Amino acid sequence: MAHSDSQIEELVKKMTLEEKCGLLSGLDFWHTKTVERLGVPNIMVSDGPHGLRKQDLAGDHLGMNDSIKAVCFPAACATASSFDREVLKKLGETLGDECQAEDVSTILGPAINIKRSPLCGRNFEYVSEDPYLAGELSATYINAVQSKKVGTSLKHFALNNQEYRRLTNSSNCDERTMREIYLPAFEIAVKKAQPATIMHSYNLINGEYVGECKWLLDQVLRQEWGFKGLVMSDWGAVSDRVRALEAGCDLEMPASRGVNDKKVLEAVKKNPELEKTLDKTCRRILRWVYDFEDNRQKGCFDFEAHHKIAREIEEESIVLLKNDGVLPLNEGSKIAVIGEFAEKPRFQGGGSSHINTKNVTSAISALKEKGIAFDYAKGFFSENRGKSESEIKALIDEAFALAQKAETVVVFAGLPDSFESEGYDRKHLDLPAEQNELIEKIAALGKRVIVILHNGSPVVLPWVEKVNAVVEAYLGGEAVGEAVVNVIFGKVNPSGKLAETFPLRLEDTPSFTCFANDKTNTNYGEGIFVGYRYYDTRKMKVLFPFGHGLSYTTFEYESVSVSKKSFSDNETVEVTVKVKNTGKVDGKEIVQLYVSDKTASASRPAKELKGFEKVFIAAGKSAEVKFTLDKRSLAWYNTDIHDWYAASGKYEILIGASSRDIRLSETLDFTTSQKIPLEITPDTCAGDILRDERTAKILRDFTEAHSDQEEGESSKEAISQEMRDEMFDGLPIRNLLMMGNNATQEEFEEMVEKLKKAVK
Ligand code: BGC
Repeated sequence: MAHSDSQIEELVKKMTLEEKCGLLSGLDFWHTKTVERLGVPNIMVSDGPHGLRKQDLAGDHLGMNDSIKAVCFPAACATASSFDREVLKKLGETLGDECQAEDVSTILGPAINIKRSPLCGRNFEYVSEDPYLAGELSATYINAVQSKKVGTSLKHFALNNQEYRRLTNSSNCDERTMREIYLPAFEIAVKKAQPATIMHSYNLINGEYVGECKWLLDQVLRQEWGFKGLVMSDWGAVSDRVRALEAGCDLEMPASRGVNDKKVLEAVKKNPELEKTLDKTCRRILRWVYDFEDNRQKGCFDFEAHHKIAREIEEESIVLLKNDGVLPLNEGSKIAVIGEFAEKPRFQGGGSSHINTKNVTSAISALKEKGIAFDYAKGFFSENRGKSESEIKALIDEAFALAQKAETVVVFAGLPDSFESEGYDRKHLDLPAEQNELIEKIAALGKRVIVILHNGSPVVLPWVEKVNAVVEAYLGGEAVGEAVVNVIFGKVNPSGKLAETFPLRLEDTPSFTCFANDKTNTNYGEGIFVGYRYYDTRKMKVLFPFGHGLSYTTFEYESVSVSKKSFSDNETVEVTVKVKNTGKVDGKEIVQLYVSDKTASASRPAKELKGFEKVFIAAGKSAEVKFTLDKRSLAWYNTDIHDWYAASGKYEILIGASSRDIRLSETLDFTTSQKIPLEITPDTCAGDILRDERTAKILRDFTEAHSDQEEGESSKEAISQEMRDEMFDGLPIRNLLMMGNNATQEEFEEMVEKLKKAVK
């Protein structure tokens, strides 16, 4: 029988102050505490996000001690590239089953921090540089896990976008940027999926620890977004437990050895009012415990079946970055496979998400299994620390000799484990030098060269123009080898697209001058211009744009239509796009919808993603995809009104195959009745008054009535009407009296009074 809210209330009433304070922190690394006297059980949590890292014995949060054997699914860098809600649903349901089988109440994920810089060491675990994509995909994952009566822990809330000094560094960011870039993914996930728990991050925001930030944990999360679940700390993120409790942090993880529980106990004794907050917290903790305990579904999970799911997910996620027609390969050609990643794929990242796998399939084992003939040379060590120069050179020479004899060379390149991990950031975007050297040498042979990449975040590819194809496998989970082989031999038509931009060089990245370069403060100086929002607004060249990915077939974007051409605040518009598969094989296309604000009401990115759909289209057939837009799809966060705002005017709807490959467009007219407060003082600028329909006529009448300007030919030549309008825009009205205006001070003051009345 499920515990009702009133039963939980009864339990809280029966608990002593000591018992309540005891519940506020973990028993150990992974468990909550019991309240034995009242029969309250304890539950276990485990990492997350792309597999189960259940530690039965010694616990740690950096993936150092062994956990139980489990299936490693592709990391979020890969699954995000699927742009496919169905894929995330399958992943979530499968993980939910594994958690039930292993008696894990809550999986610590998804991790959805925005990829502010490609250097963040943990980007492989995160979803995207785009908040809409990150929010939509994670909401699906959460709903799917939770459909199995298992909780999720949406993390790391918020602005934890670097590893450098993550426990003590302050992310200094203005409110508009937080609301438009760093918070919406969490907002979408909370509103659409109500995660059972949220994990607050280690860092500070504008000088205040996130765990102690009432504005974020209470006002934004609970009051504005309606979050009903429990907030837990990241492991070791609590600085002042009493302040954290007051701000809304329910559970401190892991154990505090009783120290912080005692501090709360003393604080409640001094300030009995605090017990109300404590009671609320205990209610939330017990609700979470019983939501799991009352819904236990015992079972065991099937490793083989889940391995197959891991492969299928990766097949939906692999991104074909470049292909001059060399792919798919034909099984008969003489292939040389080069690179240690072909035998030892890098399929996951380091740190708390590290899975103890039982069955990793490499490309080499997949090729053998399928009976495809190939020759192999290691080419380089997947990790070359401790190797001598001569050992490294010998491998290059051996691989080069093999490549000379082949028709087609498939190089498995990528980043070593030590290059990217939780706990520290990357220093550069380069592949190891010996990999670049080897690829350059092989490319110069004039053979067909295909490069497969195993990495968790963007890399630069100095040889990209010289090779025939590049396949981004990302950190593709334990079945990555099979998935890659299926893609390169055409058994699977690739359909992934990049959920992040690949820049041409590190120096081009928006946060280059202000990323992880100060021990205490990180200034989010690029503001809302993150990822493609920056590159596209600045029309900069990139290596591969956001949303880019090729297929073995071709798609023609036939038409776009809208259900209405104009709409207002509470209405929606349906956008229908027709796409045709014009090639010879079946395929899936990811259709993207971007909005471009033409109202000039604020500084905005050239375009922003507001819709995406992945659709299967058989060769020669067409399919329709639909998107629904509302006011929020057009809006920016206006800090004058502390709300989302879309000005009346025109918005362009751009339909594309990537952010740089826009195929169709439509224009919508939007009308809002939302009023922006206008304060009238002598310093208010004329342009602001003229743009507000409440005040425009008053000012216009005044200037016309008191103009002492002669409209002679010479003055028209010197200054056109447009120039006049532009100058007038920024003119404080107090200056009107000095400029071509014969009104008296009294007449001016009378007009100001009228304006004030109009905006009241
Ligand atoms: C990580 C979390 C993780 C936790 C438990 C922390 O260091 O930041 O993502 O869930 O450890 O392993």
